[in-house]
Amino acid sequence: MMLGKFSFLKNGKSEKKEQVFSDAHRVPEHVAIIMDGNGRWAQRRGLPRIAGHREALKTIKKITNEAQRLGVKVLTLYAFSTENWKRPKTEVEFLMKLPEQFLNSYLVELIENNVQVRVMGDMARIPAHTIRAVNQAIEKTKKNSGLVLNFALNYGSHAEIVEAVRSLVRDALDHKIEPDSIDEQLLSERMLSPLLPDPDLLIRTGGEIRLSNFMLWQMAYTELYFTEIYWPDFSESDLRTAIFEFSTRQRRYGGIKEERNGDK
Ligand code: FPP
Repeated sequence: MMLGKFSFLKNGKSEKKEQVFSDAHRVPEHVAIIMDGNGRWAQRRGLPRIAGHREALKTIKKITNEAQRLGVKVLTLYAFSTENWKRPKTEVEFLMKLPEQFLNSYLVELIENNVQVRVMGDMARIPAHTIRAVNQAIEKTKKNSGLVLNFALNYGSHAEIVEAVRSLVRDALDHKIEPDSIDEQLLSERMLSPLLPDPDLLIRTGGEIRLSNFMLWQMAYTELYFTEIYWPDFSESDLRTAIFEFSTRQRRYGGIKEERNGDK
């Protein structure tokens, strides 16, 4: 895909540059995002934190469209972590309504745009109304062949790895597999994203520089990009900036051959 002229705002500031993108391979196949800063975005405006989460939905929609337009194949969004249950009950309840609100507003458009919705996480504690909305979206978009929009919902990487190990141990005890046959591939297949490529690029908004228990197994060689911008303010041009930065990185996967992104 030729992106042609690629305009971007450096570090979200006003310095505008024109960048010519001539080859498709520089666009990451899988972008994962930690959507942080909703609460602070709202508080800065004297609004309740939940106003930031509400605004976040519009950003999800914008970024999904732009990712698809740029040729990204998978977009994974960290919507609710296993640690988010520690928040006040009212905020948790509000967060659990967001998937429904998002899908009520945008499912028709997602279907039209050929987006395939998926979810990864432990559904056991998720309220029935949330599961219903998510399952309906998964069902209605399962034949779509465009961008995969993958929500990490009640997701935690440690829990995911523990569960994967448990399932392998169970199979070994049942003599379905030999312990010595357990390798990286087999463990990967027991993770919650077995059919997805590992993320090429992680974006975290909101200024914190950490991974917060997100896809730790899958992100061994992911390029990391952190920005101060709060998620509700994160724009299409900010996504392009992140992807441009990604395209300039050299990924060596522990080797020495200096490969520019896309030359893999
Ligand atoms: C971080 O902001 C954001 C979250 C904890 C939740 C984000 C979730 C959504 C926008 C829901 C989307 C879900 C679907 C399925 C559409 P924060 O509250 O930690 O912000 P702060 O760091 O400023 O306090």
